[in-house]
Amino acid sequence: MASHGHTPAALAEADQTATARAAAPPAHVAIIMDGNGRWAAARGLPRVAGHRAGVEAVRRTVRLAIEMGVGCLTLYAFSSENWRRPVAEVLDLTGLLRHFLRAEIEELHQRGVRLRVIGDRSRFDEDIQRDLVAAERRTAANANLTLVVALSYGGRAEIVAAARAVAEAALAGRLDPARLDEAAFARGLSTAGLPDPDLIIRTSGEQRLSNFLLWQSAYAELVFLDVLWPDFGQPHFAEALAEFARRERRFGARPG
Ligand code: FPP
Repeated sequence: MASHGHTPAALAEADQTATARAAAPPAHVAIIMDGNGRWAAARGLPRVAGHRAGVEAVRRTVRLAIEMGVGCLTLYAFSSENWRRPVAEVLDLTGLLRHFLRAEIEELHQRGVRLRVIGDRSRFDEDIQRDLVAAERRTAANANLTLVVALSYGGRAEIVAAARAVAEAALAGRLDPARLDEAAFARGLSTAGLPDPDLIIRTSGEQRLSNFLLWQSAYAELVFLDVLWPDFGQPHFAEALAEFARRERRFGARPG
């Protein structure tokens, strides 16, 4: 009997991982985690069960990102539009976030993960806001992976906020509009200091950006996978990185 490590599937998986590693991994991978509800519905379970399984996929994905040498991972955990979901589901999602912040931060810290949050955090309960600040502070010096969690995030709102700041600076005489360039504008975005995403993955077969990182995605490779987010794992991450590597080789402008 072949051991699990030598089954054809395991060998193919190891090979895919090796291929994904051989090419330079993207410095920044961003993921639109979609399909929790459909995953639950397919099993006759309540939607919250899908979100819970989605958190497990988050834990897996963070570990994989570190293993694969990705420097920055952004996860779209809660969009500004998600507040319009039924109150019970919003409570489930914010409850999972609260639990995640309390239960997972220590492990993230041990793994050398730096947490950063983008989005309008002022809309969350105060205890969550406090935990977010504490988690960012606790992990601020870590360097294995920057985990950016987009919470109550919307790309258009982010661009408007940056534009407002620029307009106010100009009105106050602190900025000459003629000197505003893309780099200066980007410093007003919530992602200031982070590299733009090289690769954006969306699960569940939908092929939209849904207001995610609109400015930052200008040159990103987009990969849409048919897997539902709770099922996302090593083979899917490797497949997305391999697809990214193929596109890099084809267009070849960047080192890799
Ligand atoms: C999309 O599935 C997913 C979300 C709206 C939320 C993603 C949240 C998590 C994975 C858990 C919370 C994360 C953290 C970091 C604590 P959907 O509900 O839109 O699925 P559907 O399109 O199949 O209905």
